[in-house]
Amino acid sequence: MKGDNSMPALLVFLLLLELHFAFAADEKAFIGINIGMDLSDAPSPTQVVALLKEQKILHIRLFDSDQAMLLALANSGIQVTVSVPNEQLLGIGQSNATAANWVARNIVAHVPATNITAIAVGSEVLTALPNAAPILVSAMKFIHSALVASYLDSKIKVSTPHASSIILDSFPPSQAFFNRTWDPVMVPLLKFLQSTGSYFMLNVYPYYDYMQSNDAIPLDYALFRPLPPNKEAVDANTLLHYTNVFDAVVDASYFAMSYLNFTNVPVIVTESGWPSKGDSTEPDATIENANTYNSNLIRRVLNNTGTPKHPGVAVSTYIYELYNEDSRPGSISEKNWGLFDSNGAPIYTLHLTGSGTVLANDTTNQTFCVAKEGADPKMLQAALDWACGPGKVNCSSLLQGESCYEPDNVVAHANYAFDTYYHKMAMASGTCYFNGVATVTTSDPSHGSCIFPGSGGRNETFTNSTALAPSESSTSHGTPCHFSHTYAWINTLFSSLLFWYAFPL
Ligand SMILES: *[C@@H]1O[C@H](CO)[C@@H](O)[C@H](O)[C@H]1NC(C)=O
Ligand SMILES: *[C@@H]1O[C@H](CO)[C@@H](O)[C@H](O)[C@H]1NC(C)=O
Ligand SMILES: *[C@@H]1O[C@H](CO)[C@@H](O)[C@H](O)[C@H]1NC(C)=O
Ligand SMILES: *[C@@H]1O[C@H](CO)[C@@H](O)[C@H](O)[C@H]1NC(C)=O
Ligand SMILES: *[C@@H]1O[C@H](CO)[C@@H](O)[C@H](O)[C@H]1NC(C)=O
Ligand SMILES: *[C@@H]1O[C@H](CO)[C@@H](O)[C@H](O)[C@H]1NC(C)=O
Ligand SMILES: *[C@@H]1O[C@H](CO)[C@@H](O)[C@H](O)[C@H]1NC(C)=O
Ligand SMILES: *[C@@H]1O[C@H](CO)[C@@H](O)[C@H](O)[C@H]1NC(C)=O
Ligand SMILES: *[C@@H]1O[C@H](CO)[C@@H](O)[C@H](O)[C@H]1NC(C)=O
Ligand SMILES: *[C@@H]1O[C@H](CO)[C@@H](O)[C@H](O)[C@H]1NC(C)=O
Repeated sequence: MKGDNSMPALLVFLLLLELHFAFAADEKAFIGINIGMDLSDAPSPTQVVALLKEQKILHIRLFDSDQAMLLALANSGIQVTVSVPNEQLLGIGQSNATAANWVARNIVAHVPATNITAIAVGSEVLTALPNAAPILVSAMKFIHSALVASYLDSKIKVSTPHASSIILDSFPPSQAFFNRTWDPVMVPLLKFLQSTGSYFMLNVYPYYDYMQSNDAIPLDYALFRPLPPNKEAVDANTLLHYTNVFDAVVDASYFAMSYLNFTNVPVIVTESGWPSKGDSTEPDATIENANTYNSNLIRRVLNNTGTPKHPGVAVSTYIYELYNEDSRPGSISEKNWGLFDSNGAPIYTLHLTGSGTVLANDTTNQTFCVAKEGADPKMLQAALDWACGPGKVNCSSLLQGESCYEPDNVVAHANYAFDTYYHKMAMASGTCYFNGVATVTTSDPSHGSCIFPGSGGRNETFTNSTALAPSESSTSHGTPCHFSHTYAWINTLFSSLLFWYAFPL
């Protein structure tokens, strides 16, 4: 009879645990990828899905609900977050019938063959389309009730991605709060997310935080590179140590939610990445940095590292983005956030250290010697001539008709000759110098059938089986240009950083 009494107590206890740690522990974080299609030479939906399968990408987010794409994704095993574009938001937020129609056409028509797991309603609405803010929660509720009517609400989450700029005083994270202007929206919005078991969707761009910090944020801190312990940022209120910008921003969102008394809404990062190319005003938009950021991000997310506030709690993240979108308006960097070009060739090979079966082959040990960016062409030519002559590099692949002839320019040819020499010399230190016009890189310069010494010759950016891991989804594009974000909070961030402790600048 004792059992009869203890049973309910245990249940209550478990229930409380469940509520409190609704987002803790049990779930494993996944890496997904955003797919924007502003490409002049856009691959077909079938080609997109083929690339996703080849790269073992299991979670994607679309910025719309393109019918052809949803059809191509049918029976692919890929979990999809679709989006209500900002242009359609007003209509949906003002009419239950319009919302129901949208769900019928874009969701009901495609499930279960296409595994739609989330709907992102709008994109950065509070900052990008503030006049739609008053109807944002209605739009989400209307969409949700249409899902309920179709018995899909337990399978498909409804949320809306936010720019991190709505979080003010992000540093220290424990003092962060949402811009109070939006309290009338945020409170019902969080209530909705809580009551439907959905996520807080957040876009996190350490690249912009770093760019706009006037050197107050060290590049290493933005790129998740190790910092000496005395250089880590410490939140004086919580004594939590922050080793990177990403964690600080995610924790700021947890604190901002708890400031409004919401402590059990999990965060999912709907966009994060680093551009691989920029103009002279964006010197840190490089292949190396993009590779470092995304590789470190993937490793961290898949390891379920969590954040200092919630260690071990999954922060699933969608990388921005699959393709370089050359047709996007704006700066050069705006067109270069992708992991692949329109042909599906990787822009760089991620360095993912093997860790169990989930992560890919270790490429961190693969280094290449290439021409330094901006090196004087005359000096490059001289170094190339030396390598293929006195340096005894076999340069026959550079001859017309051979595998590394194209592109026929001094930089490309020097890359090949330098790298061949470097590997011939067993990558010994000092063998990638060439009078200062050469540099070591971890990005495989191989292209097409021109395979560089040191390359495994693989084409995948996620080498072997980077099953971009287990389960759940989110959504949105809309913002025409990342630089349009007002990173007002960043001012606060870096002044506080300076105030707290000095980075070595
Ligand atoms: C869809 O994804 C869910 C995870 O959210 C998974 O449990 C389910 O098996 C998937 N369904 C199909 C048909 O692949
Ligand atoms: C909206 O439509 C759904 C069915 O799609 C219905 O269940 C719900 O009650 C409606 N809500 C309002 C506010 O009319
Ligand atoms: C808060 O949001 C309002 C409305 O978008 C904006 O005008 C204001 O500048 C924001 N406050 C801060 C400190 O960013
Ligand atoms: C949060 O809860 C505390 C204590 O219950 C209360 O004093 C405070 O007003 C609440 N804040 C909000 C924004 O609801
Ligand atoms: C992976 O997680 C463990 C603890 O769970 C931690 O010790 C380790 O440093 C993490 N690795 C990375 C690469 O973050
Ligand atoms: C990298 O390569 C060197 C020599 O090829 C080897 O000694 C070293 O163990 C490798 N490191 C890793 C992490 O694989
Ligand atoms: C140079 O490489 C080519 C193949 O790329 C090979 O056929 C040729 O024999 C090599 N020459 C020497 C001298 O090793
Ligand atoms: C990694 O790649 C190298 C060559 O590219 C291969 O020899 C090795 O077996 C691979 N290892 C794993 C674990 O994939
Ligand atoms: C890499 O991909 C290209 C086409 O995308 C293909 O022609 C080439 O053979 C591939 N190379 C390897 C080593 O798989
Ligand atoms: C690469 O993946 C294939 C199948 O996906 C697997 O058979 C092979 O063992 C993997 N190679 C390594 C080195 O992990």
